Amino acid sequence: MKVYNVAIDGPAGAGKSTVAKMAAERLSFVYVDTGSMYRALALAFMRLGIKPGEMSRIEDALYGIDVTLSYRGGEQMVLLNGEDVTSLLRSQQVGDLASAFAPLAPVRAKLLLLQRELAGRTSVIMDGRDIGTTVLPHADLKIYLTADAKVRAERRYKELLERGSECDKEEILNGILTRDKQDMTREISPLRQAKDAVYLDASHMTVDEVVCFIVNLAKERFWP
Ligand code: DC
Repeated sequence: MKVYNVAIDGPAGAGKSTVAKMAAERLSFVYVDTGSMYRALALAFMRLGIKPGEMSRIEDALYGIDVTLSYRGGEQMVLLNGEDVTSLLRSQQVGDLASAFAPLAPVRAKLLLLQRELAGRTSVIMDGRDIGTTVLPHADLKIYLTADAKVRAERRYKELLERGSECDKEEILNGILTRDKQDMTREISPLRQAKDAVYLDASHMTVDEVVCFIVNLAKERFWP
């Protein structure tokens, strides 16, 4: 059976995970959240007390770290050496650390193999920063999903308020801008729109509108 690969890249907070997950469900594809893999590695380094500058410790530690994705009722679970760490990965601290470790070559090399292997086996919607440019350069459909930084910060602010967390809008915006810069200016696999990616600015679109756009595009392209 033909395997289809959809790549969705874009900056933090553009809504990639939400729309990728919903679109994958509608297309009966597997959703692969590659950010969660970087977050799992960051969590492992954090637990070992390793900082992003400690290259030889990072290289040594990588031999003993196993990141696996598994699925329960359609939900992606991330296993770190067999432990389900899914619920520990979404914090701001782990996200920032993931972005700080992500520029390192051995970290990227380890996850690249795993991501390609997943996409070769089954039809996926994979989201991240370098999926269309590096991980799956031959993906059947590539989307570059973005939104204005202020809109992304506002959405994040509302999300945190709903969860009952105390937060400061200005701080959130600064965090987003720092992360954008870090992810876009690193040397290896920076966040960039692939030449053949469809550009989608979701600043003024609802989640449902973005999902419909992607699903329709996939259907037109795969099953005309
Ligand atoms: O999408 P996210 O916020 O969960 O990603 C966390 C960090 O991981 C992000 O700031 C950069 C890194 N990342 C990456 O470098 N490449 C990817 N394909 C996915 C995430």
